[in-house]
Amino acid sequence: MTKEKEVLSEGMKILGIDTSCDDTSVAIVEDGRSIQSNIISSQIELHKKYGGIVPELASRQHVELINYIIEEALQKADVNLTDLSAIAVTNRPGLIGALLVGVSAAKSLAYCCQLPLLGINHIEGHIYAPFMEHDQLTFPHLCLTVSGGHTLLVEVLEGWENYHVLGSTQDDAAGEAYDKVAKYLGLGFPGGKIIDDLAKMGDETAITFPRPMLNSGNYQFSYSGIKTSVRNFVEKATKNQELPSVEDIAASFQAAAVEVLVAKTIRATKEKGYRTITLTGGVAANSLLRKEMEIAGEEIGVKVFYPSIRLCTDNAAMIAGLAYQKYCQGQRDDFDLNASANSEII
Ligand code: KG4
Ligand code: ZN
Repeated sequence: MTKEKEVLSEGMKILGIDTSCDDTSVAIVEDGRSIQSNIISSQIELHKKYGGIVPELASRQHVELINYIIEEALQKADVNLTDLSAIAVTNRPGLIGALLVGVSAAKSLAYCCQLPLLGINHIEGHIYAPFMEHDQLTFPHLCLTVSGGHTLLVEVLEGWENYHVLGSTQDDAAGEAYDKVAKYLGLGFPGGKIIDDLAKMGDETAITFPRPMLNSGNYQFSYSGIKTSVRNFVEKATKNQELPSVEDIAASFQAAAVEVLVAKTIRATKEKGYRTITLTGGVAANSLLRKEMEIAGEEIGVKVFYPSIRLCTDNAAMIAGLAYQKYCQGQRDDFDLNASANSEII
């Protein structure tokens, strides 16, 4: 009997690795949903002083950490390498040097332990994340994927293999806009949570920032304009000595950013006849986006699901979880599996 047959009858523990950007993450997930461990080592302190991710530094840090994080994930799950059924790794899209560290580690493990190897798409991993915690989530549904690198409205048609991208950003991603506005205001990095927290104490009607492409009639987004509007507003208001509080600026920016995301998602939901919306990616951790999408969903009788915060931002649990579904669909990759910086989900 092959090892694959044995493990399928017992429940599959998959070790997943994600090094697509600045987090070194390793997780062990059983049967696609049961998270045994999900270690995420953030590099934020390392990149903070540069106000953004420095790709070369990220790769080097992954190299230093990866073996320790694998060890920690195994220990936390109380699992030996011999208990594993497969090795999964994010191999696209992301920072190429960073991805290569994870792919090399995954190949070495799979080779040494003679386990199946699966290369997983990071964006697809984000789309899968809400499914790990919500039994009621079914196909088809509409997914808003919003992170530091992506702003995508995706039809998730069936079976974790059939997607249709309705729209994406023409320029900056939503998370990128949060990070750039925070950097400009001198608030720190990454900006999403900082602005989210400040906005709770501010007045969102203090300044009316533009809502780019709100009425464009398609499902495309644009986030570089809002960022520029914030900068122009602050420059002018400073000159005139009329600068509002940073809380008011944060709340007004966030109101504009979130309104577009909610309006376009709801419009697509109605036009395409969906009954379920999912939010995922780092920006899905945003308190206003979660609240406003739920309110808007309720108004039209549509359910809204989003993952817990730890599964919104980058993590390897979503990679190991999705890998289980891909394994059951028959995916196996060879040792010539490579990393790719740019691939989208379809
Ligand atoms: O998914 P993620 O960890 O990495 C990428 O795949 O890009 O997303 C990171 C992004 C950053 O831009 C960060 O500022 C944003 O998610 N983010 C948030 C919040 N928490 C993280 N944006 C808005 N509100 C938040 N609470
Ligand atoms: Zn991500």
